[in-house]
Amino acid sequence: MTRLTRVLRQAPSRTFGKDLLTVGEIPRSQVVRLLRVAEELKSMRRRGVRHQRLVGTTLGLLFEKPSTRTRVSFEAGINQLGGRSLFLSASDIQMCRGETIADTARVLSRYLDGLVIRTYEHATVEEWARHASIPVINGLTDLCHPCQALSDLLTIREKKGTLKGVKLAYVGDGNNVANSLIEGAAKTGMAISLACPSGYEPDQRIVDRARPEAEQTGGTIVLTEDPHVAVKEADVVYTDVWVSMGREREQVRRLKALAPYQVNERLLKGARPDAIVMHCLPAHRGQEITAVVLDGPQSVVMDQAENRLHMQKAILVELLHGRHAR
Ligand code: CP
Ligand code: NVA
Repeated sequence: MTRLTRVLRQAPSRTFGKDLLTVGEIPRSQVVRLLRVAEELKSMRRRGVRHQRLVGTTLGLLFEKPSTRTRVSFEAGINQLGGRSLFLSASDIQMCRGETIADTARVLSRYLDGLVIRTYEHATVEEWARHASIPVINGLTDLCHPCQALSDLLTIREKKGTLKGVKLAYVGDGNNVANSLIEGAAKTGMAISLACPSGYEPDQRIVDRARPEAEQTGGTIVLTEDPHVAVKEADVVYTDVWVSMGREREQVRRLKALAPYQVNERLLKGARPDAIVMHCLPAHRGQEITAVVLDGPQSVVMDQAENRLHMQKAILVELLHGRHAR
């Protein structure tokens, strides 16, 4: 039995809480385990080996914002694990007529085994988690995108062989993806440098909470307004949209403030020659990144998108397995 197969055969670790709302709250040992389980699930899928650990399980997905990757990778993932998914559009359930989150969460907990929520305010997903007796997974809030960042750790480790000491430069809007990457980098001893214009920095509470963890893991967190400083000697250059979902009314102001933060060939030259380029997608070619860079040889964005599937399957196995035998 390989080392990785042993990991998958072990019972899920109970150091994980009920829910997955932020990367910051996952114990470090559990992040390591998630990476190993995801690697094993990916390898099994490559070899055509089925791993139906979640037969009989139903995962609900309640999305208040659009999604391609998160929705489809969770739905495909639970299916591959032998379970089923149920997509719930916020406008189709009684919540749109005023039913409370508390009542909906308690009712859905009687039918489902887990729930992925994509919403606006982070407090909303916390409210879901408080009232649901089943695991609640954050499928993106305005504050965080934990499933994205965990999947990105998998991609970086695959491409760079390690996470410890790897330099990730995040350039652009200090948004939900940036916040979760800070937490992920701190957990794994990476050196993260973020270049964001004034007024568009990542969440200060997240930075403050991540710093002590980074000190323990040997990681560093650097904030600058200069994209050239951030990308210097970087192993990974990462960007995301300038106008996140829900920020559309700020579009004009954002495009102006963030224009100097485009990831283009000139900026990329400052990174290491073997640097990889990452973007969580969807991308806006010509805004936060040029088409030449996004579609160029250093870009790993499609592998990155694929890894959402493998990491989220690992999350489902770890959170749901053993809980649905009520
Ligand atoms: N990266 C990401 O979460 O994409 P979707 O909005 O398509 O889910
Ligand atoms: N920051 C982006 C990520 C989309 C996956 C947004 O919130 O719209």
